[in-house]
Amino acid sequence: MPYHGSDRYNAVARVLHWTIAVLLIGNLIGGLLHDALEDVVRIMPTHKAVGITVLALSIARLGWRIVSRTPPLPRDLPKWEIGAAHAAHTVLYILMIGLPLSGWIFSSAGKYPLSWFGLFDIPKFAVTKEDAIYGIAHEGHEVMAFVAIGLIVLHIGAALRHHFVLQDSVLRRML
Ligand code: HEM
Ligand code: HEM
Repeated sequence: MPYHGSDRYNAVARVLHWTIAVLLIGNLIGGLLHDALEDVVRIMPTHKAVGITVLALSIARLGWRIVSRTPPLPRDLPKWEIGAAHAAHTVLYILMIGLPLSGWIFSSAGKYPLSWFGLFDIPKFAVTKEDAIYGIAHEGHEVMAFVAIGLIVLHIGAALRHHFVLQDSVLRRML
């Protein structure tokens, strides 16, 4: 099908991409520091509310991605690179949804209420610490966090390589 849009991702896609990026990276840092900073600041209530926000925005982003067009890539990109980018983006979408969802599932078994920045309570899943899903979600949360760190480093590296080394339009399409 011919492409009639501009050569950038549309505004909704760009705003969602960068908002999710900032919140998700913030939550990775907050999650890793929460134990060390336990006596200084209680990170977890904010971590949980930010995470639920990431989940909602990521579902919206995925829905928008399915119904809207993506801008064309530079013509001379090798096939393997298009395939690698596609695979990386698919896993990123899985992590953008799987990470907060796993947190929500295992935190549902905890004694604390899940509050969205003190404005309203987020419902809990019917999970207890004895259920297998509790352990799977808890372990999965940690594993996915480390996979996310690796993939995001790769993703940023690829974006910077396109911009500064190959000097093509890939990064500008998302700005
Ligand atoms: C963008 C989404 C999220 C990211 C990137 C993220 C990342 C992380 C990371 C890196 C850790 C530290 C893991 C470790 O200590 O090994 C962590 C811990 C934790 N996360 Fe998340 N998280 C997200 C969403 C959520 C959500 C939505 C909830 C709950 C509603 C949640 C609840 C927790 C809890 C309770 C811990 C502490 C687990 C423990 O110390 O045993 N997270 N998270
Ligand atoms: C938590 C951090 C991030 C996540 C989860 C993330 C996720 C994604 C996803 C899923 C896509 C695919 C868009 C689509 O076609 O639907 C994408 C595209 C893109 N991202 Fe990120 N991103 C993050 C951070 C960044 C950063 C920091 C940069 C720049 C340094 C960046 C640059 C780009 C670019 C240039 C594209 C377009 C690539 C293309 O269409 O081939 N991203 N990102």
